[in-house]
Amino acid sequence: MNPNVRPETMERITTPALAEAFVNEQLKAIKAQVGDKKVLLALSGGVDSSVVAALLIKAIGKNLVCVHVNHGLLRKGEPEQVIKVFRDEMDANLVYVDAVDRFLDKLAGVADPEKKRKIIGAEFIRVFEEEARKLEDISFLAQGTIYPDILESKGVKAHHNVGGLPEDLKFELVEPVKLLFKDEVRVVGKALGLPDNMVYRQPFPGPGLGVRCVGAITRERLEVVREADAILREEFAKNDLQGKVWQYFTVVPDFKSVGVNEKGERTEGYLVVLRAVNTRDAMQATVPEIPFALLSHITDRITHEVKGVNRVAFDLTPKPTGTIEWE
Ligand code: XMP
Repeated sequence: MNPNVRPETMERITTPALAEAFVNEQLKAIKAQVGDKKVLLALSGGVDSSVVAALLIKAIGKNLVCVHVNHGLLRKGEPEQVIKVFRDEMDANLVYVDAVDRFLDKLAGVADPEKKRKIIGAEFIRVFEEEARKLEDISFLAQGTIYPDILESKGVKAHHNVGGLPEDLKFELVEPVKLLFKDEVRVVGKALGLPDNMVYRQPFPGPGLGVRCVGAITRERLEVVREADAILREEFAKNDLQGKVWQYFTVVPDFKSVGVNEKGERTEGYLVVLRAVNTRDAMQATVPEIPFALLSHITDRITHEVKGVNRVAFDLTPKPTGTIEWE
């Protein structure tokens, strides 16, 4: 039997009871595979790596070492939530790496989108490798591979992959959710007690806010992207759109917009673009209708609460012709 092929007899995990049965089965399998050896995991806080972390913590406790790299391109509150959920609540062995300056210094002045992606990907591997070398007796590497990653190894995710760890750090893999589809991973995450905003999270690209701060990233403009994104997410959650719209975020282009303030003086400020899309597989996408009153309210909040913004626009473009991200 090919371990990377989902057996036809495998039932789709749709209920808490099925998720519990899967968890129990995996706990046994993980213990049998790793025994009392140590396992390393890059924990981004995304659904897949979080579910893998929760499973392994249950199976082997502190023998799982989670490394969370903050590259400065995460959304507002994300690193804090990873620390709260995994270190404080699950008592995980969590190494938090503040690599913000390192990434932003490397990215300074780089405007080309693919160069930015390469720098972020390569630097991530370097930071993770450095942390792995500081640890002793690691025998396994856990990964949040899911079934679509195996099926579509030429798909969107793989297309953006940038190399891997060097040969001497190629540990044996532990991939407990590799035969599951995304909706099943979410049901399992829920059964493991992960918070809803982690389990039902929208997809977030590896280079994070880096590709939404269009062109050469500046710290100031990155903060505008992050703060505006937090408002958009808060309003979508409040208005019951979280989990209903596939992906939604803000983009800030690298030019200034002309505006006017309440005293009638001209201003120069940032333009925040709101993007919301629905899709099945990210290859094509449509733009859902968002209530106009909500868009107006979000515009009002962003222009008043985020420093330096004088204009907000909503991107109506489906894919094709536009890609989902702006670069
Ligand atoms: P595009 O912009 O190509 O995006 O229509 C399709 C999906 O892929 C995500 N995306 C990325 N994910 N690394 C990732 O891990 C990347 O460099 C990257 N670029 C785009 C995007 O968010 C959307 O869900």
